[in-house]
Amino acid sequence: MPFSLAGRDIISIKDFKREEIDEILRLTDAFEPLADRGSDMLKGKIMATLFFEPSTRTKLSFESAMHRLGGEVIGFAGSMGTSVEKGENLADTVRVVENYADVLVVRHPLEGAARLAAEFASVPVINAGSGAEEHPTQALLDLYTIRRELGRIDGLKVALVGDLRYGRTVHSLAYALSLYDIKLYLVSPEILRMRKEVLAGIRGRVDVVETEDLAGILPELDVVYVTRIQKERFADPAEYEEVKGSYRLTSAMLSRLKPTGIVMHPLPRVDEVDYDVDRIPQARYFKQVRYGLLVRMFLLASVLGAI
Ligand code: NCD
Repeated sequence: MPFSLAGRDIISIKDFKREEIDEILRLTDAFEPLADRGSDMLKGKIMATLFFEPSTRTKLSFESAMHRLGGEVIGFAGSMGTSVEKGENLADTVRVVENYADVLVVRHPLEGAARLAAEFASVPVINAGSGAEEHPTQALLDLYTIRRELGRIDGLKVALVGDLRYGRTVHSLAYALSLYDIKLYLVSPEILRMRKEVLAGIRGRVDVVETEDLAGILPELDVVYVTRIQKERFADPAEYEEVKGSYRLTSAMLSRLKPTGIVMHPLPRVDEVDYDVDRIPQARYFKQVRYGLLVRMFLLASVLGAI
């Protein structure tokens, strides 16, 4: 491997060069058989999950990845029942938990929280979602899904659809995709347009089209990446009411998607992808979950210096 992730924090996808991401995607393939038969690669290692925000997939995915590599898992979800309720700050929590674990996986409602945790921790910190800002491991598994399902990333037309303002997965994914030679469509209602700072970060590196009209571009797309409207992050509930249900993919609509096109979603879905879409051959969101497990196995093994 021309670079090493051993001991490294995974905080922002912007910290990675394209060659590094390509290498991560390539090396993740080797974890497929280990996911099936298990391994003791991380025997004796402990991962702590510090989840200050709800999660099903990400937390269980990291936990499953660690178990499948023979490691141990400790942690909490939600600050109820922890010393955070007593007023302990994140820095102190991190300085305590690093004594119990070899790697910390942190999800927090505040932007910058994972970076702060990494500054205080002497063990690697993996950002499992920092407010509306970033979700770097999701971006890696999204790229891995595209590469596995379509065989390449360069040359594709990709649409990110839905809540581009508060959705952290699409922020990380947009940065990551901008390292490739793709055409990126950003499809959202006006008030949920892609954050300015992300646009500033990707413009000039990738061909970007902002639009509200998904139906018009659908036949051209190779990847339709749909997101949930992030209700919990709206400061004004009236604003949420205005945009909820903006995009709702149905199998009828998707009959205009190429047979080789794919539909992705970081999950959880609410109403933006109809259940009847699950049956169309282009639906890939549950495969994405499986690929996420492999990517996280690779990342844990790497930051813990096992490969
Ligand atoms: C996402 C998240 O938490 O940002 N979920 C995930 O990790 N797969 C997406 C969401 O909550 O909508």
